[in-house]
Amino acid sequence: MDNLKILYLASEVSPFAMAGGLADVTGALPKALKGFNHEIRMMIPKYKFINERKYVLREVIRLRDIPVTVNGRTEIANVKSAFLPDSKVQIYLVDVGDFFSRPGIYIDPKTKKPYPDNAERFAFFSKAAIETLKILSWQPNIIHCNDWQTSFTPVYLKTVYLNDPFLKGVKSIYTIHNLTSQGEFEPETAEKIEYDQSQVKEGGMFYKDGKLNLTKGAIHFADFITTVSETYANEIIDDDSIGFGFGSLLDEKGEKFEGILNGVDYSVWNPETDKLIPHTFSAEDMSGKAENKKALLQRSGLEYKEDVPLIGIISKITEQKGLDLVLEVLEELLSMDVQIIVHGDGDRKLVEKIIANGQKYPDKFRMNVTFDDKMAHLIEAGADIYLSPSKYEPCGLNQIYSLKYGTIPVVSSVGGLFDTVDDLDEDLSEGTGIIIDELSGKGIISAVKRAITYFKDKEKWAEVQKRIMQEDFSWEVSAKRYLDIYERVLSD
Ligand code: GLC
Repeated sequence: MDNLKILYLASEVSPFAMAGGLADVTGALPKALKGFNHEIRMMIPKYKFINERKYVLREVIRLRDIPVTVNGRTEIANVKSAFLPDSKVQIYLVDVGDFFSRPGIYIDPKTKKPYPDNAERFAFFSKAAIETLKILSWQPNIIHCNDWQTSFTPVYLKTVYLNDPFLKGVKSIYTIHNLTSQGEFEPETAEKIEYDQSQVKEGGMFYKDGKLNLTKGAIHFADFITTVSETYANEIIDDDSIGFGFGSLLDEKGEKFEGILNGVDYSVWNPETDKLIPHTFSAEDMSGKAENKKALLQRSGLEYKEDVPLIGIISKITEQKGLDLVLEVLEELLSMDVQIIVHGDGDRKLVEKIIANGQKYPDKFRMNVTFDDKMAHLIEAGADIYLSPSKYEPCGLNQIYSLKYGTIPVVSSVGGLFDTVDDLDEDLSEGTGIIIDELSGKGIISAVKRAITYFKDKEKWAEVQKRIMQEDFSWEVSAKRYLDIYERVLSD
């Protein structure tokens, strides 16, 4: 097929604006697609905190003062251009009205609550993106959207822009990164974002559980839906506690719904070249890993003990991620011969309780309540074991990074965790990690005990490390699958 023109829309992208795993994916997949010689451009909102100098944002005269109208309200958009670092992927940063000149991405740091006008913010972004395309006269074949913040585009293409000649034949793909966050708003919001209000009632395309539901709209209107692992794709159809009632809707999509495992950007996550860790290392020479462990413990104010396994957790601190289960058994874990470092923020109460319990073991436990990319890299590099007991996990990336850094993952058997980690056999000659067979506090304890036992056999542990570091989850394979979907959608 000829070179495709693909517009990739997201609300976060690494390293410009990051709130979670979404940013890692949106920062990497476009680069991989570009590698196949397709024309790919990205658009994200221009948040106030994005450093214009560092990322060399350029003014584009044509893209100044663009009027954007949603439901009769007009705001002015200004769009700047840059490149995704170390790539030729052009990215446009879209500023509209005062929607993005705020300190948070989704959440107001003052109130700790989502901005009340989040639906309008991203609706305006979506329309501004389309207006920008028109001014550029750049007509994509595909618009690839990610999560509810960009869910407006599939809807607008088939409603407000239905008869727009410029957008004729443009197809949309919608990727679900996590159904936990669906974009739910009061039903009255529909009018403000130019959605058909009559569809926000029982049985309506935008209606779910008493609310306007943006994810539902996108699933309805997109030409193809994907999510980020095969197992999660099956789980959301089969298991209502994971699918939040979207199962039958997605099932109806039939062949137009697929799970594609996320890849990893090994130019960012590679212990041999990682610029964010103090000591690089490789499967051939692991001495740097021990040095990183020392550095990590020192930075955390804990003593370095070569023979004591260090467990790392990098996660949103939520029940979805199973941190409530960790809390349940934290003291029991800490009474074993381990050290634990937890990195992440989230549910306030959970955070406070974890700290309160952990602090009872001051020489074994640390928690940093923040998200710091550099620290995340150091934990991957310095920890011996990585723990992720999620109740459901669309893909999960840290367990894949762990493999590359020789950090043995201990994970629950759901979603992308299941698709990326194979349970070690008894003599450790096969497998890449430890699967928690029963997801409960008890299950976590017995999985960690297994890890500790294995850790004691230094020789075999080193072999496992070597083996898992060879695992390859690079983006090429997944990018090809996306391209295949784009082509299928276009030939429909
Ligand atoms: C979300 C999911 C996570 C996934 C990431 C990127 O953060 O919770 O599992 O890895 O998106 O797709």
